[in-house]
Amino acid sequence: MAKSPVKRSAKVKTAYVCGECGAEYSKWQGQCGECGAWNKLAEIVLETAAGPGSARRGGWAGKADAPQIATLKEVRHSEEVRVSTGIGELDRVLGGGLVEGAVVLVGGDPGIGKSTLLLQAVARMAKRLPALYVTGEESLAQVAGRASRLELPMDDLRALAETGVENILRHAAAAKPALIVADSIQTLWTESLTAAPGSVSQVRETAARLVRYAKETGTAVFLVGHVTKEGGIAGPRVLEHMVDAVLYFEGESGSRLRVLRAFKNRFGAVNELGVFAMSDRGLKEVPNPSAIFLSGGSAQQPGSCVMVTREGTRPLLVEVQALVDASPLSNPRRVAVGMEQNRLAMLLAVLHRHGGVMTGDQDVFVNVVGGIRVQETAADLPVLLAVLSSLRDRALPEKTIAFGEVGLSGEIRPVPNGEDRLREAATHGFGRAIVPRGNAPKSGVFKGMEVIAVDRLAQALEASVE
Ligand code: TYD
Ligand code: MG
Repeated sequence: MAKSPVKRSAKVKTAYVCGECGAEYSKWQGQCGECGAWNKLAEIVLETAAGPGSARRGGWAGKADAPQIATLKEVRHSEEVRVSTGIGELDRVLGGGLVEGAVVLVGGDPGIGKSTLLLQAVARMAKRLPALYVTGEESLAQVAGRASRLELPMDDLRALAETGVENILRHAAAAKPALIVADSIQTLWTESLTAAPGSVSQVRETAARLVRYAKETGTAVFLVGHVTKEGGIAGPRVLEHMVDAVLYFEGESGSRLRVLRAFKNRFGAVNELGVFAMSDRGLKEVPNPSAIFLSGGSAQQPGSCVMVTREGTRPLLVEVQALVDASPLSNPRRVAVGMEQNRLAMLLAVLHRHGGVMTGDQDVFVNVVGGIRVQETAADLPVLLAVLSSLRDRALPEKTIAFGEVGLSGEIRPVPNGEDRLREAATHGFGRAIVPRGNAPKSGVFKGMEVIAVDRLAQALEASVE
């Protein structure tokens, strides 16, 4: 009697995965030892791990011979074959086109435009290579309706409404597409697990099957994933480790602008941005987005500072706005939209200690215009200049830009590619730049622009009120 459960547990190997960070444990525990999250461990079946041979049969190791040690010089490798998606901004984020056999996860909030973008890309690519759009969320009629609304070429666009991963792979094996879009990973399920679609184990297992198929056959795969409230794709960060590239689709719901950002990319630069504008005919590329993140008002307003950020390989002019106002709360608010909250708190402390400016009794709100997220430290100085400008209710001098990292001891540190940033600002008619000394040209002038080099926060604050 007691035999059967013992037998079962010997056969079915399970593990526990943290839904927050993807760490794996052999036993259940209340708190994740890696990220400290409570109650996030979910049981998964180690179906794929049980048969290591199966993963090795295909393309990667190829032959039946056992793997050998080799110096990298001896290893024959071919240049990555890249195919254009037909959408320049998407190609840019991918690192110059889609690589054969690459698995790309496209994440973002529901309704942000993931399906629209991928349908547009597939429709354009389908003319040149066989592609398959698998939808688990919409019916074929809905997909066709959307394609016709977007006026996409539909002759070569093959679609399949299916959620069972075994069936999808069976269809793929027969149709041999060079590109598969699976929309979305949360709707897919495998027969080998009883868990519900969208659960950690289903998402992980179905993605693993698709990844293995992609590597074995050289098929490129786009996986669509909804972002959870906490910001991770599909809950388990584990998906991010399995795929070659993770692209996030960002944007404010009230704004037409959409930004596609490479969060991880084995075939290109991270943080590369692709910029799109939503329209009734789908997503339109914005190939020259430099100035669209400026608020566009005529006169310089208090609490605003234009910075040059360099996300990926392209400099962008971005406006940082701050509102500093007397707080009725004993614990005044620090709210940052489009940048990291903790960084704002730290910068305000530096502003007090090394700039002599107190904001302890003030609510401080900082917003990056246009719904874009700025992740680099070059935003430090512009944020503080905007805060000071709002606090004093005095606008920065006209046509001024700033960038630079602010250190805890009040020093202004240089940031990469200073000259690129200055050139971009000069191109857009800015006449004055407050920048770290390490980024300033020796002459103090760059293409007709006055460059004020600063070493310390106090100097920068002074320069901003002249
Ligand atoms: P959709 O692509 O379905 O979002 P997701 O797949 O990320 O959930 O887009 C949501 C809605 O917005 C859909 O009804 C179509 C509409 N939409 C446009 O009208 N124009 C656009 O350029 C985009 C991107 C979406
Ligand atoms: Mg969708």
